[in-house]
Amino acid sequence: MTEIPRRVRVVEVGPRDGLQNEKTIIPTEDKLRFIALLNEAGFPEIEVTSFVSPKAIPQLADAAEVFPAVEKKPETRYPVLVPNMRGMERALAAGAQAIAVFTAASESFTRANINMTIAQSIEAFRPVVETAKTNGMHVRGYISTTFGCPYEGAVAPQQVVAVADQLLALGVDELSIGDTIGVATPNQVTDLVPLLAERAGLERLALHFHDTRGTALANVLAALHLGVSTFDSSAGGAGGCPYAPGAAGNLATEDLLYMLHGMGIQTGIDLAAVVRASAFLASVVRRPLTSKYLQAALSAGEAQNGGVR
Ligand code: COA
Ligand code: ZN
Repeated sequence: MTEIPRRVRVVEVGPRDGLQNEKTIIPTEDKLRFIALLNEAGFPEIEVTSFVSPKAIPQLADAAEVFPAVEKKPETRYPVLVPNMRGMERALAAGAQAIAVFTAASESFTRANINMTIAQSIEAFRPVVETAKTNGMHVRGYISTTFGCPYEGAVAPQQVVAVADQLLALGVDELSIGDTIGVATPNQVTDLVPLLAERAGLERLALHFHDTRGTALANVLAALHLGVSTFDSSAGGAGGCPYAPGAAGNLATEDLLYMLHGMGIQTGIDLAAVVRASAFLASVVRRPLTSKYLQAALSAGEAQNGGVR
């Protein structure tokens, strides 16, 4: 076992991955308030929106309004999702300096999500990544369904490796390995991560867990022991799954930070400030968010304040 990292980079994806899965369409000004509260927590990176088709993701149709209005801190990176050249043009026009392209390890999911084969997605990204590099932008490459696919079931590590190799050949700076439907168990992490680390290097590898079946933190722990030091999470565990009422979505940032800080791992992020951002989001979506830490913090706060938050 590798020594676990002393410092971990937490990438906040709530404004994108969380909000794209919320049933309600959140007003632009509330998104901006949510992002401003997240900014106060000191994240190194906040994924703020997606320049995708508004028909595919109506929740993020206001990307061109949101992105320029976000108050940017010089030390923070604000990536946006881009699926094609049309998205790249919109991202550039909005002033984005970091992008993420996204494909998957299984064909059926790729078809359903971006209406392309995996091979077509790689070809679509080629000019996108070239343009990004010309403009000095940081490029993340997401691979979804790396531990299981809603249509195809099991996904073999070799399928993920094949896609990772193609994204790396395009020149992406970082890979984010997604458990899109939250099915992974730690043994799968142990099987897959070394194969990817061999290709990308540990420092270019992020893991992106969803907590749909309660295994996300166990998977993070397995990955920490393999030396992974970048994890994606979403404030409050926002998002859920639109097809499974009450189900947990992204690994909640609060739950991740609580575990990391408890283990003596530094993140530079203020957990109490994340709770404030999530409490605001919960008031906007008018339902409790799924983060265990958030629920505990809010009920402790209510007990202290006589029910007033
Ligand atoms: N931004 C805005 N609009 C876009 C766009 C972009 N990046 N890319 C395409 N469009 C528009 C087209 O102009 C077209 O509009 P029209 O119907 O008014 O003419 C429409 O979307 C369809 O475009 P087309 O090129 O035929 O794409 P498609 O229907 O095959 O869809 C994607 C492909 C990739 C654009 C679409 O599936 C998508 O945006 N998916 C994103 C899914 C996502 O974000 N998932 C979550 C992240 S994992
Ligand atoms: Zn996700």
